[in-house]
Amino acid sequence: MKLTKLLHINKPIIQGSMAGISQPPLVIAVSNAGGLGVLTTVGLTPETLREAIQAIRAGTRQPFGVNLMLQQPNISALLPVLLADPVPVVFTGAGNPKPFIQDLINVGTKVIPVIPNVKIARKMSALGASAVVAEGMESGGHIGTETTMTLVPQVVSAVDLPVIAAGGIGTVASVRAAFSLGAVGVQVGTAFLVAAETPVANTYKRLILQADDTSTVVTGTGADRVRSLKTPLTEKLLTATPTEQVKLATGSLQRAIKGDVANGSFMAGQIAGSIKKIEPAAQIINRLAQGEPTILEELSQ
Ligand SMILES: Cc1cc2nc3c(=O)[nH]c(=O)nc-3n(C[C@H](O)[C@H](O)[C@H](O)COP(=O)(O)O)c2cc1C
Repeated sequence: MKLTKLLHINKPIIQGSMAGISQPPLVIAVSNAGGLGVLTTVGLTPETLREAIQAIRAGTRQPFGVNLMLQQPNISALLPVLLADPVPVVFTGAGNPKPFIQDLINVGTKVIPVIPNVKIARKMSALGASAVVAEGMESGGHIGTETTMTLVPQVVSAVDLPVIAAGGIGTVASVRAAFSLGAVGVQVGTAFLVAAETPVANTYKRLILQADDTSTVVTGTGADRVRSLKTPLTEKLLTATPTEQVKLATGSLQRAIKGDVANGSFMAGQIAGSIKKIEPAAQIINRLAQGEPTILEELSQ
């Protein structure tokens, strides 16, 4: 099924949630432009989540999503807010939504897990997910081990669900590539880090604009593998002991958001080297949407 039809949106472009970053003004701008904005819940309480959802509804009549990073300690406190006042879509990541997925489905919310491999895609399909985001390790933030190029077609073959490609997508050509691999839409994070509505320090945006193809590095292991721009902090993380790593990494994205170059983790994906200007989210959406196949191209497939 087409992503636009599934989510009632005009353009098959999802603004991937970014912890502490994808706040209501960005979500509103993306959804008003015809894509799907996704609210981060990292750092929110039930009260501030309720307020953020109200702010989004006041700013747009279009669908939007909410992200639950399942490593967050307060998921069970946030869930009642989403059950009492259902939102169109919930994206889950970094954990298994099994304990609550049916509750969300029962109130009419579509649940779309972000998955790093075929095994987890199959599990999410069996649990009743409406679609999956297949996220390759080119992505910024927490990552799996497979590349978008190899993961997306294997997930497309393995599950009978719409597949959204993520990781390394930030140009018209990469949107085209995602559709060629069988995806029905794309989820984009890094390219939205420099949107005019994105509330990070100018330093963060400048570092993205200055990045080239080899500017990111992966630190950490297992569930803590993180891709970010090479900075003094990533240098230290690469040689730190596991205990030191936890100390250095805790709160490091928040420090980056404030522009602390020495101690911040400037999470960003490998596509950062292609991002060359700050512009409104609507322009990013409109440009990326040019990569969607035309009706004629679809008919000829
Ligand atoms: C700074 C940053 C923070 C992120 N935080 C989250 C998050 O809290 N939850 C989540 O599911 N994905 C998170 N992601 C992943 C994005 O939602 C998206 O899937 C990813 O950025 C796509 O790859 P790209 O960076 O190559 O565009 C984050 C990505 C970045 C760059």
